[in-house]
Amino acid sequence: MKIFKTKSDLKKYLSEVKKTHKSIGFVPTMGALHEGHLSLIKHAQKKNNVTVVSVFVNPTQFDNKEDLEKYPQTLENDVKLLESINCDALFAPSVKEIYEDNITSDTFNFDGLEYQMEGKFREGHFDGVGTIVKTLFEIVEPDVAYFGKKDFQQLQIIKKMVEKHNLPVKIKGRPIFREEDGLAMSSRNTRLTKEYREAAPFIYKILKKAKKKFGIKSANDVTEWVKKQFNKHPLLELEYFTIADEETLETVDVINLSADYRGFIAVFAGDIRLIDNIRF
Ligand code: PAJ
Repeated sequence: MKIFKTKSDLKKYLSEVKKTHKSIGFVPTMGALHEGHLSLIKHAQKKNNVTVVSVFVNPTQFDNKEDLEKYPQTLENDVKLLESINCDALFAPSVKEIYEDNITSDTFNFDGLEYQMEGKFREGHFDGVGTIVKTLFEIVEPDVAYFGKKDFQQLQIIKKMVEKHNLPVKIKGRPIFREEDGLAMSSRNTRLTKEYREAAPFIYKILKKAKKKFGIKSANDVTEWVKKQFNKHPLLELEYFTIADEETLETVDVINLSADYRGFIAVFAGDIRLIDNIRF
């Protein structure tokens, strides 16, 4: 696998790739790679001639300084994992290489998608995500970029950004990869204590039960039921649960039979924040 630390070296390599009209698949990540990331990368490899992965813990998307400082960084292991699946190229730049001395976000208008759910609780998060993903797209110029539905709001926001800025890249969403006990894989899971790790599968269990109830009860009743289950839980603290339209991400009021809905959840397991969602 080729490893690049600078934009210019990566661009040089990619300009050779592009001369032969090979398709480029791209998977942006913040590293601490797990099977969820690898599932995206393996899919990109199947669909493209060359696959590029980026590992960059993007400071501008963290609203919480401690979360940024404690975000797991395991580049050596990430390289081993990527080599084990024959990834073609890794871009792992420094913060300075990306932001120089100006670590700030651009301001985006995502037509309101940014004010829902995560946007209400993580100020500036999606401006940070938009800034880094747009920058990475401009460097890599991929044909297709792959994102997990684990971060469903992020996926919809990236699609919106591509549409509004006419960026020449296709965006593909991929299914959520879970541990055997149902917990959605996440780099942050490695920071859970044993006690919280054992408690965390409760999140997906409740999502599945909520999905069952959605056919029978109103969205409001299901939401109240979910809140109650977390109120009773001794360890996990619910930040939000909402049933929202997949396109607008607005909380459902009256159910429209032609719309698709999802249940979205954010939970604190101690000081680790976990998110998940399920299609209803
Ligand atoms: P990160 O959390 O590292 O995730 C990188 C990609 O992997 C995202 O598209 C995310 O949705 C996907 N992913 C994470 N866990 C997954 C799982 N359990 N199943 C399927 N896909 C999963 O998301 C980011 O990084 C950043 O915000 C980024 C887009 C790289 C911008 O900095």
